[in-house]
Amino acid sequence: MKFSSIISGIAAACSLFGSATAAFTNPIRSPGGSDPFIMRSGDGYYYLMTTSWTDLEIARSTTIAGLKTATKKVIYTSTVTNRCCNIWAPEIHWMGSAWYVYFTAGNGDNLDGQRMHVLKGGASAWDNSYTYAGQLNDVWAIDASVIRFSAYGNYLMFSCMYGVTYQSICLQKLNDDNISLSGSITVISSPEQTWEKYSYPVNEGPAALYAGGKTMISYSASYCWSPNYCLGLLTWDGTTSPTLKSAWTKSSGCQLSSGSGHYGTGHNSFFTSPSGGETWIAYHATSNSAGACDDTRYTMVQKITVGSSGSVSFGTPAANSLSISEPV
Ligand SMILES: *[C@@H]1O[C@H](CO)[C@@H](O)[C@H](O)[C@H]1NC(C)=O
Repeated sequence: MKFSSIISGIAAACSLFGSATAAFTNPIRSPGGSDPFIMRSGDGYYYLMTTSWTDLEIARSTTIAGLKTATKKVIYTSTVTNRCCNIWAPEIHWMGSAWYVYFTAGNGDNLDGQRMHVLKGGASAWDNSYTYAGQLNDVWAIDASVIRFSAYGNYLMFSCMYGVTYQSICLQKLNDDNISLSGSITVISSPEQTWEKYSYPVNEGPAALYAGGKTMISYSASYCWSPNYCLGLLTWDGTTSPTLKSAWTKSSGCQLSSGSGHYGTGHNSFFTSPSGGETWIAYHATSNSAGACDDTRYTMVQKITVGSSGSVSFGTPAANSLSISEPV
């Protein structure tokens, strides 16, 4: 064997070895990792948005490890009184022909003015073309997210207090323009079980999960200043109008809760791996055993288990020492 081919053989082996062992450790963003939304775009990048309170920031990287140091780009800031401040829970969704960023904002004095708003972007999530497209409805509402039903179309889901005493998961029809809503607001889940009422009864942070032909919604239960803030799961019956509470079955307890020194595990998003074969979760947690609602919360990323019948297991929070292979 020629010396040069030995060298290239070693180089090939090294690069194979290198890609097979690409890995990361948690947390991915700390502090400033609240309400993490991660999606993987067709351009090969993972995009991360978290709650900053003051503006909307987006970062991207081709690896999860790279998100730790990725430069954040500001895509929204405003001095308009009713949407300048308390900017929370941005999510970026591809809606057929453009990216849309749904987010919560309000005034600087209190949280009574929290409303949902939307930016319209361009064909690339990294474009600098984001423009403010409007306020979605005029009730107290936070944590907007999109859920799709083949027979019923797209809905916006969010946490609201519309006709209920405690923050609940609500649905309203998303119009074809993707920047306005129509029809009534309906409540599909309220904090009613013990595990949804620690410190204070709350349902918030809905995220759609489609697996094994089932449509599900994960959401955060209990108050964030509690170590018991956790993820619950709603499963749609597949036929009845999704606007009906009776169309959804609630899990009998938390599906992801405190562990490995991480407390208050909640407000998640889901994304798929580059091959499309793996489902991953991003959520926030705190090392404060009393829970936390502030900027000290950090972003965690790990793979979840999805069965072909639509059974899902979120597992337990990954220890920070655990080396996790990049999604494939
Ligand atoms: C809104 O979203 C739908 C479905 O996701 C898409 O077909 C449609 O083109 C979008 N409309 C606009 C104006 O972007």
